Amino acid sequence: MGTEKLVIGVPREILAAETRVAATPETVGEIVAAGHRVLVEANAGDRAFIDDARYTESGAEIVQDVQEMYRQATVILKVKEPQFNEELGKHEAELYTEGSVLMCFLHPANKANHEMLNILARRGITSYTLDGVPRISRAQQMDALTAMSTCAGYKAALFAASHIGGFVPMMPTPFGVLAPSQFLVVGVGVAGLQTIATAKRLGAKVKALDIRPEANDQARSLGAEVIEFDVPADLAIGKGGYARSLPEEWYAREREALAPHVATSDAVILSALIPGEVAPIIVDDDMIKQMKKGSTIIDIAVDQGGNCTATRAGEEYDHNGVIVSGVKNIPATLPVASTNMFSQSIFHFFAYILEGGVLRTDSSDEIVSSTLVTYQNQVVHKGTLKAMGLAE
Ligand code: NAI
Repeated sequence: MGTEKLVIGVPREILAAETRVAATPETVGEIVAAGHRVLVEANAGDRAFIDDARYTESGAEIVQDVQEMYRQATVILKVKEPQFNEELGKHEAELYTEGSVLMCFLHPANKANHEMLNILARRGITSYTLDGVPRISRAQQMDALTAMSTCAGYKAALFAASHIGGFVPMMPTPFGVLAPSQFLVVGVGVAGLQTIATAKRLGAKVKALDIRPEANDQARSLGAEVIEFDVPADLAIGKGGYARSLPEEWYAREREALAPHVATSDAVILSALIPGEVAPIIVDDDMIKQMKKGSTIIDIAVDQGGNCTATRAGEEYDHNGVIVSGVKNIPATLPVASTNMFSQSIFHFFAYILEGGVLRTDSSDEIVSSTLVTYQNQVVHKGTLKAMGLAE
């Protein structure tokens, strides 16, 4: 970062049940050391157990009135996309100073956010979405989505462990040795791998399945038993090595291959996803009927519609003896770790985009083109324009 003095605003998140905050005293310290001012809204970090005093010690100024903070800020760092502020009776997108820069998760493909993006464009806000950061090595430290999937995968294993009502590890008792619990993880991306690692540390027996052979190798290296199900590589793997959406007949075959394993598992954790698409159905009603009472399904893919027909978004309920969890925003249930990781990711992103005090907006840069959403009064993000029906 260069010499030009920026004013960075860090608000308290207003999304219900959000606990994270976009900066910690550590990242505030780095930004202040680079010569910028940091304004933190009062109590912004309280749900992540960070007192205002700690921000002040790191060089931040605490601002009581969020509207005053937005009036002064030239760059806003936050976690979730702008929301309607009930207390002020105004949308957050209307509070930012015209021409300021916003960095956060904007989830720009989601239709529910399109009106908000139009407000940002109209008001000349240059916005970047953290969920667009490409998974390339030079962007690793900016990859907030991977960081949050790590949190979600870890916590999903703990949710499962606390739902099943028995011990996870093998347990010697005076009445004999109790067998370890059986976990099944479907979708071994960032979240799934972390679930496997955590379940193994807890002492579970773990089975796993992904349609990418590389992911299955990683599952094996963590000690999981991989379920046999071979999908031809040209069907399963697309551009950049990401998974592709399968023809429906292959999903039916996958469910058939998984059914006996689902039936004998104590915990089924689902995190199968094709980037930018609705999550595939991996577990259907017939498969749940075969599950043991007292077992559980944790559907991490809930934000993309879920991998299980019984999932109810945002709910955890008893489905004929099987606890089905569709808890949303799992990282918010781990506020210290998720805030630490998110604030590091956004700090590295901010430092890259504003290196030398000059805003990077050049779309020939892959990091910029995949994250820049509104610029010069327009929505410029390809995927978003497609989702808005404004581009092919
Ligand atoms: P990822 O893209 O790294 O992993 C998805 C995996 O699913 C890939 O390995 C892919 O090969 C695999 N897959 C695709 N189709 C499959 C199929 N038919 N059968 C088996 N595997 C298949 O994604 P990541 O980061 O691990 O996230 C996984 C899910 O967790 C996503 O839906 C993501 O939105 C969600 N998530 C949810 C959070 C929450 O709070 N609920 C927080 C973070 C992530």
